Amino acid sequence: MKTETPILTKRKFNVEEIRNDFPILKRLVNGKPLVYLDNAATSQKPRAVIDALEHYYTFDNANIHRGLYFLSELATDQYETARLKVKEFINAMSASEIIFVRGTTEAINLVATTLKTAKFFEDGDEVIVTNMEHHANIVPWQLMNGNTRVHLKVIPMNDAGELDIDAFEKLFGKKTKLVSVVHISNALGTINPVKKIIEIAHSHNVPVLIDGAQAVPHFKIDVQELDADFYAFSGHKVYGPTGIGVLYGKTEFLEMMPPYQGGGDMIRTVTFEHTTFDDIPRKFEAGTPNIAGGIGLGAAIDYLNQFDRNEMIDHEKDILNYATEELLKIDGLRIIGTAKEKASVISFVIEGIHPYDIGTIIDTDGIAIRTGHHCTQPVMQRFNVPATARASFAFYNTMEEVDKLVLGLQKVKKMFA
Ligand code: ALA
Repeated sequence: MKTETPILTKRKFNVEEIRNDFPILKRLVNGKPLVYLDNAATSQKPRAVIDALEHYYTFDNANIHRGLYFLSELATDQYETARLKVKEFINAMSASEIIFVRGTTEAINLVATTLKTAKFFEDGDEVIVTNMEHHANIVPWQLMNGNTRVHLKVIPMNDAGELDIDAFEKLFGKKTKLVSVVHISNALGTINPVKKIIEIAHSHNVPVLIDGAQAVPHFKIDVQELDADFYAFSGHKVYGPTGIGVLYGKTEFLEMMPPYQGGGDMIRTVTFEHTTFDDIPRKFEAGTPNIAGGIGLGAAIDYLNQFDRNEMIDHEKDILNYATEELLKIDGLRIIGTAKEKASVISFVIEGIHPYDIGTIIDTDGIAIRTGHHCTQPVMQRFNVPATARASFAFYNTMEEVDKLVLGLQKVKKMFA
């Protein structure tokens, strides 16, 4: 099965040209050209991904793994090819370590639920998380609690939004069973030193899950180099469709974990007395999956693979630096999250103006940013703010769009003066 056509010459990164690949970027919002700065919530889709979905439903739609007829085999081949593309994209050792799920949230829930079923945790055990976790990496661990109580130990962060690694080392004890940390904070933009975190955890024989939802869209991820035990991300944040995501897990863990859900396609034999399960990854993929979503994610990976990712990363860095400089010129604006290592997210507050007002007013100029707690209420508590406004960037954003954001914010300031 082939994964992708080898591209000998990478496509040159040219932001104006690339914007033509994303049809939605040409639309008007409130009569103004869309300025889409909510990429941490979801990214826009290139034509190649939209076409892959349309092509699949128009020509190739059939259920997978079950039919011995042409279309079913075609659909199966495309879905499994997408799995191989993901495997290569994050450099997993084997495609069987790639579990398709709905998104990062389901990936973390899968790990929590199956580890609970496997009795991996005993009463009083501890999971180490950070102060900057998305709710998706807090609530699943709390939901596990029934007869067995698992406690969350929290790595603190400084006023810049950087983790205190010395404090992290001190959190380990006999009860520490898992470390589950975010790679890049969706609320602060902090890039966490996950390789070091993994090294430290492994020196205590504790496995590590990384929430990579915000990292995979911005960086090349190599799960083997990181030595992550689990790595989760969502398709829709990496220019693919919604409703598809990935849980990477090392074979040794996936084989130890019981199935997540029961149903078709995950079994080997079923009687009323007893069921035997298929091998990984199928053991975790009960029922008809999001076939089009998997294929669409494969198309998104192909799209990204046309480029030298470093050129995209450099462009995103330039945008982040320029936006940081320009936003800080606005009187009364304070950036929440000023870590030295940051990616593509600027959370901010403006003195005397509620973030909701900021978001609503600039929307009239076609500028989309997110306002609220960003599903990270503990971050808001740590910085003592009810909410922030957040601009988050993708490689298709431009300096002109940053200028429009700044003009929009100046307008908001004038209205509240
Ligand atoms: N977690 C997504 C965000 O940060 C939805 O906006």
